[in-house]
Amino acid sequence: MVAQVIDGKAFAAKVRAQVADKVAKLKEEHGITPGLAVVLVGEDPASQVYVRSKGKQTVEVGMNSYEHKLDAETSEQDLLALIDKLNNDPAVHGILVQLPLPKHLNEDLVINAINPAKDVDGFHISNVGLLATGQKAMVPCTPLGCLMMLRDQHGSLSGMDAVVIGRSNIVGKPMAQLLLGDSCTVTIAHSRTRNLPDVVRRADIVVAAVGRPEMVPGDWIKEGATVIDVGINRIERDGKTRLVGDVDYASAAERAGAITPVPGGVGPMTIACLLANTLTACCRANG
Ligand code: GUN
Repeated sequence: MVAQVIDGKAFAAKVRAQVADKVAKLKEEHGITPGLAVVLVGEDPASQVYVRSKGKQTVEVGMNSYEHKLDAETSEQDLLALIDKLNNDPAVHGILVQLPLPKHLNEDLVINAINPAKDVDGFHISNVGLLATGQKAMVPCTPLGCLMMLRDQHGSLSGMDAVVIGRSNIVGKPMAQLLLGDSCTVTIAHSRTRNLPDVVRRADIVVAAVGRPEMVPGDWIKEGATVIDVGINRIERDGKTRLVGDVDYASAAERAGAITPVPGGVGPMTIACLLANTLTACCRANG
């Protein structure tokens, strides 16, 4: 079998176009422009790239983008004061604090200081609880993007065997909750999982989110399975820097029914979902 390639770039463009349409209508009919505030502390180069890209795409769909760049030594008190200001600013519908934060700042404390209704990352403990109990939550962007691609591929996911490799709060755990919500039989695998190859071989859906380059070889993949690769790993090969996923794409594509490439798969969907979440937050705030 040669897998169908799931084009995340094209899918993300479609999501952004839908968001842009709704933003235009909100402006025209209600005079409201959704606003997203992104807070970056320090100068982590990867974070700077992400934040720039988020700001650019926010403006492209017609929303207001508010960037707050703070220096690496910013105190927790000052960061919390900024979050309080954004929580109370009616022009700001979504707040995102770029992670990781410098070591002296307590990430849990900072994230949980965000008004849950403006928590477009879906990381606030209230949103985690709402998602886990099947209530109306802000859903983390990367797993939301993965779910949209899976639904697009299969229609109903009901009864499918899904394996999520990785148990992070940002991807693995919320991904498992979303798949469970869509009535999959869900296994969360991680570094201590026994006999991982056999666990993966059972799965109709494999979501790989561990951050280890090409750790899932093709012979772990069941014939016809759908493979969603969340990994974005920079490696040196043939004297060049390359981006590869957590799945060995070439061998997996020979067995999977459908697979997301890296780059151009899950990556572009994350920011598209961030914009969709910001629109959702704005609509909920305005009844
Ligand atoms: N750092 C890496 N991924 C993310 C994300 O989805 N949200 C935030 N806030 N920081 C990140």
